[in-house]
Amino acid sequence: MDLRTAQPQIPEWRSVIDRAETGEIDEPIYNVDRGDTRPFDAIFVGGGAGGRFGSAYLRARGGRQLTVDRWPFLGGSCPHQACVPHHLFSEAARELDLARWLSGTLWYPDFDDKRASILEIVELFRSGRNAAHAFMNWQSKEQLGMEYILNASATVIDEHTVEVAGERFHAENLVLGTGARTLVPDIAGIGLRGVFDFASLVEELDYEPNRCVIIGGSKVAIEYGSFFQAAGCPTTIVTRSPLMSTASLHHVDDDLRRYVVDGMRTRGMTILEGANPVEVVGNGSVTAVDVRLADGTVERLPTDFVFVGTGERACSEPFVESLGVTTDERGSIVVDARMRTSVPGVYAIGDLIGPPMEMFKARKCGMAAARNIMGEPYEFDFSEYPDFLHSTYEVTWVGLTEAEARERHDHVVVIQMPPPGVQPGDIPLPCAEGSMLYAFTRPELTGFQKCVIDAESRRIVGLHHVGFGAKDAFQYLDHLLRRPGGLPIDEMAEMNELFLNPEHFIQLSRLRAGNLVLSDL
Ligand SMILES: Cc1cc2nc3c(=O)[nH]c(=O)nc-3n(C[C@H](O)[C@H](O)[C@H](O)COP(=O)(O)OP(=O)(O)OC[C@H]3O[C@@H](n4cnc5c(N)ncnc54)[C@H](O)[C@@H]3O)c2cc1C
Ligand SMILES: NC(=O)c1ccc[n+]([C@@H]2O[C@H](COP(=O)([O-])OP(=O)(O)OC[C@H]3O[C@@H](n4cnc5c(N)ncnc54)[C@H](OP(=O)(O)O)[C@@H]3O)[C@@H](O)[C@H]2O)c1
Repeated sequence: MDLRTAQPQIPEWRSVIDRAETGEIDEPIYNVDRGDTRPFDAIFVGGGAGGRFGSAYLRARGGRQLTVDRWPFLGGSCPHQACVPHHLFSEAARELDLARWLSGTLWYPDFDDKRASILEIVELFRSGRNAAHAFMNWQSKEQLGMEYILNASATVIDEHTVEVAGERFHAENLVLGTGARTLVPDIAGIGLRGVFDFASLVEELDYEPNRCVIIGGSKVAIEYGSFFQAAGCPTTIVTRSPLMSTASLHHVDDDLRRYVVDGMRTRGMTILEGANPVEVVGNGSVTAVDVRLADGTVERLPTDFVFVGTGERACSEPFVESLGVTTDERGSIVVDARMRTSVPGVYAIGDLIGPPMEMFKARKCGMAAARNIMGEPYEFDFSEYPDFLHSTYEVTWVGLTEAEARERHDHVVVIQMPPPGVQPGDIPLPCAEGSMLYAFTRPELTGFQKCVIDAESRRIVGLHHVGFGAKDAFQYLDHLLRRPGGLPIDEMAEMNELFLNPEHFIQLSRLRAGNLVLSDL
């Protein structure tokens, strides 16, 4: 199907994608300018977050790219199976949580968890996701001027050549961006019907789960588990490391962790830490999971629904075979700060180069590769970044934990809400958008916040928040913390808050900034 000279509008793109998904369109979808005799500066293998943003940047710099994706749309796993369903499920979890706590009060009816259906929300997502895909195909072609081939896998032949549907395309450079997939643990019975990961959940779920066992303690485990529990499906997380303490999560403050994990337990989740899955039990379909508990005993957990939350591994095998690119012990492709692999002219980006597997990193990797390909030396350091996850809350953090700050600095002060020693139920703070109803009904549920300061330099070195509505601020706080000179408490106190502001950081800083010698609040 050649759409180069056609100008499909968004509804037409949606129809093309729908038909490709049902198999009605099984041929490649071409948007390639065959009349352009310029060589390609780069072929992007994979048009996900990294590939699409890198392609757009390279075009914007005057280069010529070709992007190939096996799916009939650009944008990759985030809008199809990962971030977007995660946010839909997390919003559902938050709404359901509020409806449960306020059940039978105000205008809230008695909560009926039979009305909350995991399957219904999954189907809602499945039926709506192609709208975003259609937009991205349209935008990439009509607004960003990209060339691409969709609905066709790319096979890398050598460092300048890619084969798509039997045709070979050549370029000065290759940019590999084929992402990652779930690391499925090697446990007996893991292939039984009723075992899902984040991708198969949205593709295949066709029944309403009654009980859930989650294997692994990843972000995905916390996020999806909180949703399942809120939807009325009693959920057990089986995790080796304490929850939120897995090695891939850095800078998780102890008090923040406690607030989140205690909150999950308060909402009825079972969290088995120091536990290992032994076997998924069933006959055709899953009926239970055998788990070795921290004390060494094995317990059988009956369930009809197992969710794998054991993290992801890069899809690097084809490029090791075809190009011999160097990978690390987890199979991630090794790159330098310019996204260059061990093979000259070959770049790798996004989840394919390992953690953090986050959108900001994937997109900026694509941009970094494009800039370097277009002759602009550009390095991307993603060792520090703002981070978040959802429970039924938005949990956000940046910079050092209190414990890390105390290791690095002699005089650390902390501004915290609720303050140490004050019972969360005694004050309705922090509160703002999303927690006002809790403030007046269940003050202990309004959240938690902490601001960590090096008192000598007066610089803020870490910020931590559990609640709603503060995530946006952390993008800018990250920038301010990492700029030369950082963010002194005095400058925070000079900012103009839009009260009620969810994190309360500005006004609380102002209460202390007048002190020549800083102290806790
Ligand atoms: C459940 C879940 C929730 C998440 N939530 C968030 C979140 O809230 N915020 C956040 O920042 N990050 C989140 N992430 C991480 C985020 O989704 C990834 O970091 C991001 O999508 C990675 O982008 P990428 O370009 O590296 O890979 P992808 O977006 O996965 O793109 C890879 C592309 O390569 C294509 N491809 C693969 N093989 C071939 C081939 N041979 N030929 C052609 N095409 C091929 C695929 O079709 C795909 O489109 C989440 C991840 C998961 C699993
Ligand atoms: N921004 C977001 O909201 C978001 C959402 C989802 C994913 N992501 C990103 O995607 C990437 C993958 O994240 P992730 O959270 O899925 O994975 P992860 O952080 O790597 O966590 C993997 C978890 O699985 C456990 N595990 C691994 N192998 C296991 C096994 N064989 N048996 C039992 N447990 C096992 C690990 O336990 P141990 O700790 O004991 O090793 C750990 O708890 C991360 O970079 C993450 O930041 C982001």
